[in-house]
Amino acid sequence: MDELARAKQGAAAAWSAGDFTRFAQMISSSRGRLLELLDIRPGEVVLDVGCGQGDLAIEAAAARASVTGVDIAPGMVAAARRAAGAAGSSARFAEGDAEDLAAETASVDVVMSSFACMFAPRHDVTAGELARVLRPGGRMGVLTWDPGSDIAEFIRATAPHLPPPPPAAQSPLLWGDEAHVRGIFAPTGLDLRFERGTVTFPTKPVQEIIDVHIDEFGPLVAARAMLEPQGRWQALADDVDAFFHGKAEADETVTFVSDYLVVLGTAPG
Ligand SMILES: C[S@@+](CC[C@H](N)C(=O)[O-])C[C@H]1O[C@@H](n2cnc3c(N)ncnc32)[C@H](O)[C@@H]1O
Repeated sequence: MDELARAKQGAAAAWSAGDFTRFAQMISSSRGRLLELLDIRPGEVVLDVGCGQGDLAIEAAAARASVTGVDIAPGMVAAARRAAGAAGSSARFAEGDAEDLAAETASVDVVMSSFACMFAPRHDVTAGELARVLRPGGRMGVLTWDPGSDIAEFIRATAPHLPPPPPAAQSPLLWGDEAHVRGIFAPTGLDLRFERGTVTFPTKPVQEIIDVHIDEFGPLVAARAMLEPQGRWQALADDVDAFFHGKAEADETVTFVSDYLVVLGTAPG
């Protein structure tokens, strides 16, 4: 197995190791904005790339669209199927890689991704896939974190403790840079526009936020399982602690505020 395949296997295991329920709840406002912008109509064929536990796909399917969510992490796909079952949703879910989508070329009316396809290693390959599956005139909507956001800072603070990305990988945070995004989509012919928004996370006691991240955020849960036997976990735990305490108010609460970028595209034709 080459380095890229190994990294993807690691990502699939890492995102499967947690429970994304609370995190998905906290970003519901950005999901709502994305769905408003995409204006999905009954009968449209919709693909959610990096669907996580299915929140966006299930909300889109409520518009009586034909929605499929794909995610590289089997644990996420299983959770999404459970959520759809519980909600009586028609959304379907499958394992899939943003860099190698199973959907036929020009088969989809709307392709979307909520803070997910940004994590696929090769941005130009992902951009090519998102564009390839869109039928002429089809719409794309992708949510990504701004490189100056609290979430971006968290990603930068924890990354040095995690396995190094393969040489081909680019930083997920570049997806928040409009010039970079224009560059990766340039060969696709998609007509791009951008919108910005802000997620204000609920105010919580700092220790509660730390505990939720350590116990439920997949990449940290997986990192702990890997680093603890090597005696390297405490250094990461200390950095997580320092990061959130650095964001805390005098009353020991934290209110994360994170700007995001919406990348909107329309396929030619
Ligand atoms: C931050 S979570 C977002 C989940 C969901 N879209 C949401 O907003 O609740 C990132 C998701 O991207 C998925 N992911 C990472 N790399 C991927 C890839 N190469 N292809 C498909 N999904 C990927 C992860 O498994 C994870 O479910």
